[in-house]
Amino acid sequence: MNIDRIMEELTLEEKASLCSGLDFWHTKPVERLDIPSVMVSDGPHGLRKNTEDSDNPNESIKAVCFPTASALASSFDRTLLETMGKAIGEECQHERLAVVLGPGCNIKRSPLCGRNFEYFSEDPYLAGQLAAAHIKGVQSRGVGTSLKHFACNNQECRRMSVSAEVDERTLREIYLAPFETAVKEGKPWTVMCSYNRINGVYSSQNKRLLTDILRDEWGFKGLVMSDWGAVDDRVEGIKAGLDLEMPTSYGKNDRLIVQAVEAGELDEAELDKCVRRILEMADRYLENAEPETVWDMDRHHQLARKIEAECIVLLKNEDNLLPLDSKKKIAFIGKFAETPRYQGGGSSHINSFRVTSALEAVSEYAEVDYAEGYSISGGADEAKLLNEAVTCAEKADIAVIFAGLPDEYESEGYDRNHMRMPESQLRLIDEICRVNRNTVVVLHNGSPVEMPFADKVKGVLETYLGGQAVGGAVCDVLFGKANPCGKLPETFPVKLSDNPSYLNFPGEGDKVKYSEGVFVGYRYYDYKEIAPLFPFGHGLSYTTFEYSGLKLSHSEISGDKTLTAEVTVKNTGSVSGKEIVQLYVSEKRPQVIRPVKELKGFEKILLKPGEEKKVLFRLDSRAFSYYCEEQNGWRADYGEYEIMVGSSSGDIRLRESVYVSSGEKVRADFTLNSTFGDIMAAPEGRKIFSGLVAVANVGADESDPAIMGEGSLQMAESMLKDLPVRGIVSFTENPDVNRESLQLMIDRLNNEING
Ligand code: BGC
Repeated sequence: MNIDRIMEELTLEEKASLCSGLDFWHTKPVERLDIPSVMVSDGPHGLRKNTEDSDNPNESIKAVCFPTASALASSFDRTLLETMGKAIGEECQHERLAVVLGPGCNIKRSPLCGRNFEYFSEDPYLAGQLAAAHIKGVQSRGVGTSLKHFACNNQECRRMSVSAEVDERTLREIYLAPFETAVKEGKPWTVMCSYNRINGVYSSQNKRLLTDILRDEWGFKGLVMSDWGAVDDRVEGIKAGLDLEMPTSYGKNDRLIVQAVEAGELDEAELDKCVRRILEMADRYLENAEPETVWDMDRHHQLARKIEAECIVLLKNEDNLLPLDSKKKIAFIGKFAETPRYQGGGSSHINSFRVTSALEAVSEYAEVDYAEGYSISGGADEAKLLNEAVTCAEKADIAVIFAGLPDEYESEGYDRNHMRMPESQLRLIDEICRVNRNTVVVLHNGSPVEMPFADKVKGVLETYLGGQAVGGAVCDVLFGKANPCGKLPETFPVKLSDNPSYLNFPGEGDKVKYSEGVFVGYRYYDYKEIAPLFPFGHGLSYTTFEYSGLKLSHSEISGDKTLTAEVTVKNTGSVSGKEIVQLYVSEKRPQVIRPVKELKGFEKILLKPGEEKKVLFRLDSRAFSYYCEEQNGWRADYGEYEIMVGSSSGDIRLRESVYVSSGEKVRADFTLNSTFGDIMAAPEGRKIFSGLVAVANVGADESDPAIMGEGSLQMAESMLKDLPVRGIVSFTENPDVNRESLQLMIDRLNNEING
């Protein structure tokens, strides 16, 4: 397309019309200028494309449901996400889609968010890395993605009106950080703005978010579309950088755009920017379309099984009960063995062409007895189901219970209000444990649940919502064909009230205060020393790993230097296995309140029995930084940091220290209202002001600095710590200490520091 020429020929009305959808899934064409209508579809873990003859978004073509983000994140595997992305990209090519909507990289602030299964993690580094990999995979096939939901869409409750009240530091460190990585590294064709408001302003008309940060700071070059129905004021949206409104507005908002330009309220140049980006997206589609691409559903079903086997997390394995010995008498219990729950409700719901249950797949390994145990749809005789299950478990050597959350518990559109599993399932697990000591629970859920049974059962496998081939993957892991290698991308708290957002979720009316600040997930549990049920990063294997030889490239680094950390990991067990090596950074004595440690690196490695490998991590200055609101930027304070390497956030194996300086000098801006504490923290301040501290009459014994003992000097300093400098005139008779002389000292201090 010759976009420059088209821009000249488009009328105002045509330009405005391009800025909203034709219908639920298509952009508008302008036939006289050969501008095509292109199609977008959900996403993210497979295609939910409408059937040709229906515009009911719930009637979609048969497709492959890959594991959802909740499961994918447990893989901690960038390559795996790229592989899945490529497969989805192929499907899009076959189906003539320009963009597949997703991935979502919103932070899991509360386990209650109904849409957590579509998101990756409570940790911004992990979420950003995986979102970038997903994007790269899909886009390597010449198809676009839409990174969503930008930003702070961390709950479903009142999602279209609620305002997330977040301070700048928290916004940058936690909620924007995954988007920043995904945008900078993944370079998505499009970004989808969220429904909610941030500090009062709707994302769909938030210039700071959509232009100042996304485009100007992060260098995003693509198109921004609205979430479906997220537009409040369309003209403000154009000014803010919201290019495409989805779905359609039936021409209503297009007319408002035209009127605003005609009335001089909207500069046509602003509209042109949006139109150009819409044309660029359509052009990209035309340039890259390969409709002859073959979509091999069977192959993708197999791939979905392989991927899920890399995601399943072994949470507990007492007495090495797993892997199962197929010669033993095994009972599968629970309706989910027969009808697994493998995806969530809402816009990501896929019309799976096939579903493999564990009950079906187990025939590849062993013969098992089966009892339904509980019903999902209700209306059944629960007591009868329970009795049958107990009888079945009694006769078995090992009972494997398939449990979790039914569909209605979690979905797009609403949040949970508790973290419990259904009573019928809890009762079943209890009763089975009474008759069979070798019980394993296999969980199907999109978000953490409380596990009152955790101490009673010997094994727990977390499958999350594992896609349509989940049953095959579960059997591969249960019988040891696949060695479990997933780890939790979020903390499982003992109970809901332990969670940091507990007091402020989902907020009051249309406001939700993110009062816990940066202390989200393990950042909070660590700091408060609240023992979780299972910590972030936890996951067992059928083998064991030993960590040794942590070496850092420098003992001190500054400015833009990169620190390299190297560690050796050895498989000390008897089967091959993959380990997710995690690196956390911790500032020893931070000047601002900071989490005890933060994930800044992870690598997944495959090791044969006895094999060892070196794992390398590279850390740039951002890995040590916090967001400094005063300076509007990232800042690593000078001081000692600890590099921690371990197998989970709760299992740090090795530590090494490094000294870091940001390299940038902070501009000093002291005034008469600065406190002695702040001034004395700078070496220059100490030099200029310590004499003054000694003359202050604040109860320390002597007043002559020459004879003042170290102890009293320290005491005086502590007492003056919070006193503004100007206040000292009231604590000394010395006539030379007055506002004028103090101001001269302050000026000298600022000059010395700023040079
Ligand atoms: C969801 C988006 C989705 C869109 C289109 C919205 O309700 O929030 O995630 O992509 O619908 O189905």
